[in-house]
Amino acid sequence: MTKRFRGIVALDKVDFSLEKGEVHALLGENGAGKSTLINLIAGTFPWTEGAYSVHGHSLSHLTPQVAREIGIAAVFQEFSLVPDLTVLENLFLGREQSRGPFLKRSDMRRAAGELLDELGFHVPLDETVAFLSRAQKQMVEIAKALRTHPQVLILDEPTASLTDGEAEKLFDAMARLKARGVGIIYVSHRMSEIRNLSDRVTVLRGGKKIGTVTTADISDEGLIEMMVGRPVDQLFPKIEHKPGDIRLEIADLTTAGGTVIDASFVARAGEVVGFAGLVGCGRSELCRAVFGLEPITSGTVKLRDKVVERPSPSAMLADKVCYFPADRGSEGLALIRSVRENTTMSSLGLPSLSTGPFLKFWRERDVIRKPLTDLALRPMALESKVSAFSGGNQQKVMLARGLMQPFDVYLFDEPTVGIDVGAKVDVYNLIKELVEGGACVIVSTSELPELINLASRIYVMHEGRIVAELGENERSEAQILPHYFGGTA
Ligand SMILES: Nc1ncnc2c1ncn2[C@@H]1O[C@H](COP(=O)(O)OP(=O)(O)OP(=O)(O)O)[C@@H](O)[C@H]1O
Ligand SMILES: [Mg+2]
Repeated sequence: MTKRFRGIVALDKVDFSLEKGEVHALLGENGAGKSTLINLIAGTFPWTEGAYSVHGHSLSHLTPQVAREIGIAAVFQEFSLVPDLTVLENLFLGREQSRGPFLKRSDMRRAAGELLDELGFHVPLDETVAFLSRAQKQMVEIAKALRTHPQVLILDEPTASLTDGEAEKLFDAMARLKARGVGIIYVSHRMSEIRNLSDRVTVLRGGKKIGTVTTADISDEGLIEMMVGRPVDQLFPKIEHKPGDIRLEIADLTTAGGTVIDASFVARAGEVVGFAGLVGCGRSELCRAVFGLEPITSGTVKLRDKVVERPSPSAMLADKVCYFPADRGSEGLALIRSVRENTTMSSLGLPSLSTGPFLKFWRERDVIRKPLTDLALRPMALESKVSAFSGGNQQKVMLARGLMQPFDVYLFDEPTVGIDVGAKVDVYNLIKELVEGGACVIVSTSELPELINLASRIYVMHEGRIVAELGENERSEAQILPHYFGGTA
């Protein structure tokens, strides 16, 4: 199949097949065409050229509704839930219409409860979707896709916002579906998931299919090479840490929700401080609390020896602290605005941008081009809406925003979620550049190899508390992992 968006070739004569009971992974850099391919398969938009058949019957075109009727269900990167309706209402949206007004609410409730129980997901049925966390929304999306008992299930980066425990539940559910003969198309940037879950992998690059391989027959390095088109020898740059003055000092910090309890740590200029732990252990909330996004009930936040009485994002930004949220969709970006607007959003007070009473449009374009070039935004279309970019490229727009001016302290929460191997290297190099330039960088991530390779010290969190601090020579996975579960190494 070939797909063109107003002249841009997003997919170029790609062949793809899915067998009964198979988990088929799609792998490729940001913008390679993975989401486009699954959108064609799910009937979201028409293909430009090509052929499509299901069970040997060819289809001349496909709509989302017909796709659902023939048993194809998809969970996309961008959610399709209606924010103002409850979980229950969202789960049965569409079904209500097809069955007429006779579907009883009590029946719906029972079916929905069973479905979520079977998946092992805990989501309150009567909660309005707008109030759910991103992980809960993801769970509702997955449950909704499974409600129709599909023959083909498509999952586009489903674990990007799930905790490790929730992801395990999803993997269990996938195994049960696979055993029942359901074919699953699985998109992920996490090599470990591709390795553990998939039977075959199809690699896309620049809209073209590079190949389809049996997972067991190829190494991770081999897959990465297919993906980026060259061998990748060095993923992590060597960072020269020169710990200097204390930039940030947190003492006995507890958040109102109890997500962080009595946390104390220091971070110095010229070093990367890592926060490790399972998703949900409190690392994200700690970053948010420091930046003033999470109410604090006790404890102090000190910046360069000065106590910050009431941390708030505007005060923190003014004090040269910058924060990159894990959830770029709901906290980070205005998706319907252009790249240019999103990038300059937090920096409109910058002298370089606001000379004179009028914001100088061309000036603005020049200033934002540098960070976006450093991060290799693709395509480099500054006036396009952020929503028209692939997921990983959206992440780059968010990162670029914080690079418009120098900060003293950078808080990164899951900086490489959803971005491809090549872009990860760009982000690691960026962190290196910041730290070697004298900044204090704090990285919270679920990718342990990132911390082992980038951080000078690592704090491990478990159930809201900091349970360990590990220095230079105590940083093997074997030394760190036991702390993830609250144990001692
Ligand atoms: N609605 C659209 N309008 C214009 N161009 C689009 C649209 N959707 C996708 N594209 C372009 O098609 C190409 C493929 O994008 P796609 O979203 O399929 O990438 P992807 O492989 O899913 O990447 P990621 O890993 O970042 O999610 C990109 O260059 C993207 O900008
Ligand atoms: Mg995508």
